[in-house]
Amino acid sequence: MDETVLHRISVLKQERNAVILAHFYQRPEVQDIADFVGDSLELARRASTTDADVIVFCGVHFMAQTAYILSPDKAVLLPQIKAGCPMADMADADDVAALKERHPDAAVVSYVNTTADVKAISDICCTSANAVKVVNSIPADKEIIFVPDRNLGQYIMEQTGRHLILWNGYCNTHDRLTAEELSAAKRLHPEAEVLAHPECRPDVVHMADFVGSTGGMVTHVCDSHAPEFIIGTEVGVIHRMRQLCPDKGFYPASQKLVCPNMKLTSLDNVLKALETMSPRVTVNDDIRSRALLPIERMLAL
Ligand code: 13P
Ligand code: SF4
Repeated sequence: MDETVLHRISVLKQERNAVILAHFYQRPEVQDIADFVGDSLELARRASTTDADVIVFCGVHFMAQTAYILSPDKAVLLPQIKAGCPMADMADADDVAALKERHPDAAVVSYVNTTADVKAISDICCTSANAVKVVNSIPADKEIIFVPDRNLGQYIMEQTGRHLILWNGYCNTHDRLTAEELSAAKRLHPEAEVLAHPECRPDVVHMADFVGSTGGMVTHVCDSHAPEFIIGTEVGVIHRMRQLCPDKGFYPASQKLVCPNMKLTSLDNVLKALETMSPRVTVNDDIRSRALLPIERMLAL
């Protein structure tokens, strides 16, 4: 069955001139059929430079939206249309606009985990890979509103010494990891290096030897001389780490670190998307042209 599905995907991919992009949190079998697996920043870069006619985005809705905003001439397919990001949904554009009105001189920095409507009223976007750099690029005397992740916002404040006006959003998956659970994992694997994503709570982040995006973590485990690692992010990334470093040990910081939305997409969904050329993600022209600017400013950095 799987062989047939894999074969059909590969044939249709050629016929449609499609590229399959997958986030590190996708199921292992979905990562394995992708042309490129990466973090939010690398996926956005790929989406903006690919010469394919069709982008099959194995990730969540805001990622496919960003791909469409960058490449509106391409068909962007999100094989599982129900795959959203609860954190992105915590920031409503009208509420962000109201906060902006209370701080008219502030720059709005929005995490890419936002809707296109929120990006459209932002000055610059960031991902977890470049958030510190993006905030450092803003003049020191400028007020900054940061939307929507309070944990990433706190991390940026600590790294830059800048004060940010924080939105009270969070990632349901990362925010669930407690310092007690991480301590228990450390007791089980005392020699392991601890890696944490900045979407984790501050007390968890403070316990880590390395803090970074999923892409940063993958690079770090390859470069590090440590033989084992406790991984403080969604468990999907461990598949990639094991492929790249089969001799090293990887342990999830908690079995709870599973994003249900990232796990929705199956190989059958990918095949069906290529067969039917749906579900397609688009953004209306007005929002798209306004949302493009902050994304391009981020990519230019
Ligand atoms: P990165 O891909 O930037 O590491 O972000 C993780 C994430 O939660 C994406 O939804
Ligand atoms: Fe959203 Fe968190 Fe899932 Fe990423 S891991 S898609 S931030 S809920």
